[in-house]
Amino acid sequence: MRSLTIAILGAFALILAACDLGPKSSFGFTLPDGNADYGQAYFVEFRCVDCHTVVGLEDELVAPEGIDPIMDVPLGGQTTRIATYGELVTSIINPSHKVSTQYRLSPAMEEEVSPMRNYNSIMTVDELIDIVAFVQEQYELKPYNRTVYRMY
Ligand code: HEC
Repeated sequence: MRSLTIAILGAFALILAACDLGPKSSFGFTLPDGNADYGQAYFVEFRCVDCHTVVGLEDELVAPEGIDPIMDVPLGGQTTRIATYGELVTSIINPSHKVSTQYRLSPAMEEEVSPMRNYNSIMTVDELIDIVAFVQEQYELKPYNRTVYRMY
């Protein structure tokens, strides 16, 4: 019994050590719920549409007349894991945090700087949470298909 307790405590210690709870950890970070309808309007207003299409809303969310889209990074659609609020906020306020190699403007882009615009000094927190609520709603969890084993 005692060794079981020690084993459980040891496992907890390992789990805690594995989580990064340093001063820069996002632990404890939450946002109030946003309004996805407002978020959709902001998505066009902030011209996210210059670079993003939204799966299922390709015809509704378009760059204003006469403006050519810069690139097409699709957001939304089916996914096996919906990005958390924290991840989505990070992709908006700190897009270079995780720049996918796919979207480097050129192979010469040594520095990992996202081509995504920086909105930090023009977007209010309310606008940010509404946009995040809207973007998050666009993802749909892919149904998990069980493997069907045939009877032999
Ligand atoms: C100038 C082009 C550009 C604009 C404008 C832009 N983005 Fe992006 N965005 C990108 C690129 C490129 C990526 C791919 C990740 C990377 O490499 O930076 C990206 C990634 C993202 C992601 C993460 C997607 C994922 O699958 O991880 C989100 C969310 C996002 N953008 C939201 C927005 C929102 C919201 C706006 C408007 C406020 C916006 N973007 C405006 C270029 C842009």
